[in-house]
Amino acid sequence: MAESSIAKKIGSESWLSPAPPVVLWAAVVVVMVGVISMPLATAQFDSFADLKGDYCRVRRPTSCCDGRYDDCSMPIRGTRCYCDQFCNRTSNPDCCPDYWELCLGFRPLDPLLDACFKDGVVIPVGQSYKFNCNECKCQGGQLLCDTDPCMIDEQVIENVNRGQRQYTWRASNYSAFWGRKARDGLLLRTGTHNPEALSMKMYPILLRPELSRIPSRFDVRNKRDWRGRVSEVRDQGWCGASWAFSTLGVTQDRLSIESLGNETVTLAPQHLLSCDRRGQSGCNGGHVDRAWQYLRKFGVVNEECYEYESGRTGKLPRCRIPRNANLFNLRCSANDVVYQRRNLYRTEPAYRISGKEVDIQWEILTNGPVQAMMKVHKDLFMYQSGVYSHTRLTGEETATHSVRIIGWGEDNTVASPPVKYWLVANSWGTDWGERGYFRIARGYNESDIESFIIAVRVRLGEYATGGRRRALRRPGRRNYSNRLRNYRAKN
Ligand SMILES: *[C@@H]1O[C@H](CO)[C@@H](O)[C@H](O)[C@H]1NC(C)=O
Ligand SMILES: *[C@@H]1O[C@H](CO)[C@@H](O)[C@H](O)[C@H]1NC(C)=O
Ligand SMILES: *[C@@H]1O[C@H](CO)[C@@H](O)[C@H](O)[C@H]1NC(C)=O
Ligand SMILES: *[C@@H]1O[C@H](CO)[C@@H](O)[C@H](O)[C@H]1NC(C)=O
Ligand SMILES: *[C@@H]1O[C@H](CO)[C@@H](O)[C@H](O)[C@H]1NC(C)=O
Repeated sequence: MAESSIAKKIGSESWLSPAPPVVLWAAVVVVMVGVISMPLATAQFDSFADLKGDYCRVRRPTSCCDGRYDDCSMPIRGTRCYCDQFCNRTSNPDCCPDYWELCLGFRPLDPLLDACFKDGVVIPVGQSYKFNCNECKCQGGQLLCDTDPCMIDEQVIENVNRGQRQYTWRASNYSAFWGRKARDGLLLRTGTHNPEALSMKMYPILLRPELSRIPSRFDVRNKRDWRGRVSEVRDQGWCGASWAFSTLGVTQDRLSIESLGNETVTLAPQHLLSCDRRGQSGCNGGHVDRAWQYLRKFGVVNEECYEYESGRTGKLPRCRIPRNANLFNLRCSANDVVYQRRNLYRTEPAYRISGKEVDIQWEILTNGPVQAMMKVHKDLFMYQSGVYSHTRLTGEETATHSVRIIGWGEDNTVASPPVKYWLVANSWGTDWGERGYFRIARGYNESDIESFIIAVRVRLGEYATGGRRRALRRPGRRNYSNRLRNYRAKN
């Protein structure tokens, strides 16, 4: 390093320079101050850059001297550097910066000389630097970088946001996603397995939507009787648990709606994640049909009783409430809450709604939010506002996700004619999208969002005796062969 070679001159036996000590010390101090007041890499680079230039090259009469010639030197920074062979004898020599190249014909391996440069960053040899989600390492003057796609891609943001209304949505940089690889996003921000072939073949129930009663826009949160009964957006964190979040989101909304607000609770995804393990993969994803099975047969407690932690820790703790748990006096968690009900929160068998737009609308309008499976393309991570439809900017790679559709509408501000959309609650927190929600093109199966729609009736009134409840009237009861239950009898 340049400054240490100067510093070493002091007291070195070859030090015969006539430069006055005061100047010398001043030079050392200048360099030291530089080191202290700047980030290390830049400081070293700058002080070297200062020293770069022609020294031996311009020395007259001869540039290089063999052997030891104490006057074979050049002034540098108030001191002297050497162009004789003797300067090369130590690992920290006092040679002039251009000595090796000029006199020996090679560039020394110097951490600063061989530093790497990228996007205005100087990376010294042997060190690494993270650019967004990719680590770059500087080796022998060569920059070796991972080249994985990142969740946030500046180029995509720029392309989507570039005027001309080519896209009906806008993109944004999210600090929560910055620095993360796209494959981690696809794994941990989604987390729904495709339903098994058997469930996919399940026939939707028969609905008879009254078209004249379907408004052009609808938001369950604003329906008069349902105010305050539809749950907020949550954050699944870095755990592929959308299968649990979307299932319980729909369940708790319908629990509140069907109980006329008497049972407005947040249900515990951690309970499903940790305890519904058969054929499920916890934070690596799960099947929604299996989740519905579990809710029908066993049920879950509320969030207060079984707090969500996997999104923060990325780990899957062991199940705390076994299937045959005695709920009487069940201690919930560290905070000593006692579970107040005789039963867990349970549902009737889930049922499938057809992919027809009016069927989905009718179900939401009459019974509340529905669960939808969808494909997540990588550009969705950057969605900020507007009506989403996937671009071809981030490639074909997708993951399966599940969400809660809570309404629909038409937007005439993003394009004309107006763009029809579904209003959807995601589980990526409220900082993402339109306060946690997004709108997605409606009516042509965008990202497969109309391909697998599920709804459910809940079981009410289980504070009381725990006696069997009679089955609730459900729409489309004419065709019972359609229900999920029938395909999972083996469970
Ligand atoms: C100078 O030093 C370099 C690196 O330590 C070494 O490879 C080279 O042989 C030396 N040259 C002479 C002339 O001593
Ligand atoms: C995105 O956000 C991160 C964290 O807030 C920031 O470090 C980064 O520079 C931003 N990138 C762009 C392209 O704005
Ligand atoms: C709601 O609770 C009230 C009193 O707590 C009760 O009278 C009423 O029947 C309950 N309604 C439903 C739908 O459970
Ligand atoms: C949506 O697209 C998927 C995949 O292309 C397809 O399997 C599904 O049947 C479609 N659904 C509807 C309702 O069009
Ligand atoms: C019920 O579903 C079966 C397929 O499982 C179908 O063949 C039949 O037509 C349906 N019946 C009615 C009444 O819709």
